[in-house]
Amino acid sequence: MKKYEKVRREDYEAWYRDNRDYRERVRADESRLAYHLMPETGWLNDPNGLCQFQGLYHIYYQYTPFEPTGEIKLWGHYTTRDFIHYKQEEPALFPDQDLDAHGVYSGSAYVEDKTIHYFYTGNVKLFDRDDYDYIMSGRVSNTIHVTSRDGYHFSAKELVMNHKDYPADMSCHIRDPKVLKKGEYYYMVLGARDALSKGMVLVYRSMDLTNWEYFNRITTEQTFGYMWECPDLFCLDGRLCLVCCPQGVEPMGTEYQNVHQCTVFCLDYDFRENTIRLNSQFPGMVDRGFDFYAPQTFLDEQGRRILIGWMGIPDAEYTNPTVKAGWQHALTMPRLLHMREGRLLQQPLEEMKELRRDRRDYDFWELGKGVETGLVFEACLSMESCSDMCLTIRDDVTLSYEDGLLTLDMGTSGSGRTRRSVLLEQLTDLRIFSDTTSLEIFVNEGLEVFTTRVYGDRPGMRIKGKCCGTVSVYELSGFIYE
Ligand code: FRU
Repeated sequence: MKKYEKVRREDYEAWYRDNRDYRERVRADESRLAYHLMPETGWLNDPNGLCQFQGLYHIYYQYTPFEPTGEIKLWGHYTTRDFIHYKQEEPALFPDQDLDAHGVYSGSAYVEDKTIHYFYTGNVKLFDRDDYDYIMSGRVSNTIHVTSRDGYHFSAKELVMNHKDYPADMSCHIRDPKVLKKGEYYYMVLGARDALSKGMVLVYRSMDLTNWEYFNRITTEQTFGYMWECPDLFCLDGRLCLVCCPQGVEPMGTEYQNVHQCTVFCLDYDFRENTIRLNSQFPGMVDRGFDFYAPQTFLDEQGRRILIGWMGIPDAEYTNPTVKAGWQHALTMPRLLHMREGRLLQQPLEEMKELRRDRRDYDFWELGKGVETGLVFEACLSMESCSDMCLTIRDDVTLSYEDGLLTLDMGTSGSGRTRRSVLLEQLTDLRIFSDTTSLEIFVNEGLEVFTTRVYGDRPGMRIKGKCCGTVSVYELSGFIYE
């Protein structure tokens, strides 16, 4: 496919027919993931349109099937009823209109009255002049509304907002709509970069999901990055949270070490008075690993607030070895969210326990001698006391805890990535999920998480240091695809 050309469903279908070998090659790749959603071929980024509709979970995602480097974006589509059995569906939305000719960019789903309302950004790049800087000019971000009564068939794409509806002091970078309802109004948040390169979230308001009026903006006093992508405003355990992805933030100690951030603010928002107060000018980090970005949350039919993230990051400063095999990136496991004392708590969904096979229990004395694992496992460590430890997880990847600093060191398996740390008052427990080429490490019941891709193939766990406790190791089976 050409980089800046529309892709219609027929174009994709013809390409799909011609690319059976490509699919076989990716299917045979040893580094493909056992229990994480990845692209059939090519590139995957943000989860989109997450919702549960009439029992079925819909997981759409940013998708370039044609090559592993992420050019023109479609919405890929998986469905599941239980987060273990999945069906790979046909791509849902194509960049086939003038409104979204250069990408069906990220967006979300809002379910009401037997209808799914999708809002996404239609990305358009202009090429009629050669003096565009693509920040203040040369790019159009259309906010588009589409509905469906089944998650598979879609209404015509309807433009609900474009630059004439965005505030005059904005750049061209406005995208990634997400909707929540409060009282009689719907509110839409959009990620934005203003003309002075200050990152922020724009808030719009509507009574009918079609006509939107500008309402307010959420940002810090001092500039915190030049652009905030993928905002998600939601209520959680009585608090209002804003998760968003600021770009262009300088590192501060152990904080904000990745090229782009994924952060969380708690805020007080009086929607009637339209007054906003952020609880801090420096947001918390949602994840501490190398590969976590653009998560989205949704409320399922049981009332659970579930988060799925992109296990990857834009503009990553390394070459992902899977590119050679024709694919790149994956989604994280689904995580259940709660608030604890003003902090975000993330735990793997209960359903993930269905993957467990063959449990083995050890104490730390045995773990000190080394225990065998495969590459695909879950390990639950519970510390009775721990003042200093160095845990080898697999290959030469270590997690060490010393002087209150917990550090993940990728050793030679990070493909160039090195270390990430967090300060902890104490270390009480770890839940480590290892897949063929990924790690998700939940610390202290999920108050901190490290998500990263990893590229070694020598399993085995071992602990050293002043630490006692117990560990259960489970082999994990993979997702089942229909
Ligand atoms: C975040 C992001 C979004 C955009 C999408 C395009 O990773 O840059 O802001 O909508 O990806 O694929």
